Amino acid sequence: MENPFKYGGIVRGPYFADRVEELSELIREMTNLSKVFLISPRRLGKTCLLFNLMDRLRDFGFATAYLDLNAYPDVRSFAAALTQVTCNALESNTERLIKILSGLQRLRPKVSVGHDGSLTGTVEVATDAKEALPALLEGMHHAEKLARKKEKRLVIIIDEFSDLPKYDGQTIEKALRAEIQQHEHIGYILSGSEQSVMLSMTRDSKRAFYKLGRIMKLGPIDRRSYADFIYSWLQKGTYRVERRDLEKIFELGKDVPHNIQRLCHNLWELARESHEITPQLIEKLPRVIAQQDSPHFEVLWQAASQQQRTLLMALSREPDAKPFSRKFQLTYGIGPSSSIKASLDSLTKKGLLFKTLKGAYKFSDTFMPYWISDLKRTEK
Ligand SMILES: Nc1ncnc2c1ncn2[C@@H]1O[C@H](COP(=O)(O)OP(=O)(O)OP(=O)(O)O)[C@@H](O)[C@H]1O
Ligand SMILES: [Mg+2]
Repeated sequence: MENPFKYGGIVRGPYFADRVEELSELIREMTNLSKVFLISPRRLGKTCLLFNLMDRLRDFGFATAYLDLNAYPDVRSFAAALTQVTCNALESNTERLIKILSGLQRLRPKVSVGHDGSLTGTVEVATDAKEALPALLEGMHHAEKLARKKEKRLVIIIDEFSDLPKYDGQTIEKALRAEIQQHEHIGYILSGSEQSVMLSMTRDSKRAFYKLGRIMKLGPIDRRSYADFIYSWLQKGTYRVERRDLEKIFELGKDVPHNIQRLCHNLWELARESHEITPQLIEKLPRVIAQQDSPHFEVLWQAASQQQRTLLMALSREPDAKPFSRKFQLTYGIGPSSSIKASLDSLTKKGLLFKTLKGAYKFSDTFMPYWISDLKRTEK
């Protein structure tokens, strides 16, 4: 039987765990065509949730359009993509689609013919870079008009929305807000993982998105439902397991779905022969994963300075330690605080650590501390 615990990509249908409440809440919001800011730390499952939401919304007769801002380096490409995906969502007939696209002023349709003679209509920004923002607004305005004409409710999802300031900052924010506010046939979900960026975008009264819509914070998946999901797949695979032993997986994975899926994926493979799941096997999982990622950790380690390595070792041993405390500095023989601060900043910039909203420094990769502690053992 195929391993049902998928990770790294978009997980759908029977492989998607729980999120029942979050889905109903978002469906409710989209039924009212609201504007929602979806916020969570990385890898908590926003994108998966949004794809499963789109599947559901389409069943209810909505048109859906999804864009990941990461994929568009400039406003020009964002404008073209937004126009493209919204038109595709509302019009499935290619000839009519091409006709619609020809009516746009700042966007030019491109028609290509496939091997089988089928036509595809795409769009690009016809004018120079200065016109990119007006082209984006034209595309959005057009989506609203088309949705009204087609008598369809359209949901536009913009993922990695925290990337927006990479364009030209405040100008685009203001222009987008003004346009979005006028829309009566479109619901918006603007989703982002950079918590502080998203929060300052929406909570700062001087910023354009202030109070444009509600903020929905995505938390971890409910442990009990997630355990039901894991248990029922293990049973389908005829694995022998005690349901209460699964609790440990949530602790090891820190309730981050990406980690939980990866732990379960490995658990499934490790017990493929024996079909026997024991607490000892579960305990082993983080080290198995840390070993799989060893080449990646090795590169990061080689690039770190001696002080940074000492700091990483200390944090892997004491995840809740306070690096600026005297006790910490004496225990690990590092300091002063100013150089610790410089190391922490550099490790955060390189993505090895991240700073929580409360100001603590944590490993971005839950399994890296296991690799570091194994390293200590081999070095001794
Ligand atoms: N409900 C779920 N059921 C099963 N697996 C899930 C679920 N939600 C998330 N995952 C797992 O977590 C991984 C990361 O999820 P996803 O990419 O949706 O997170 P994200 O919040 O969008 O992350 P990022 O902020 O990095 O974009 C997925 O590849 C999948 O393996
Ligand atoms: Mg995502």
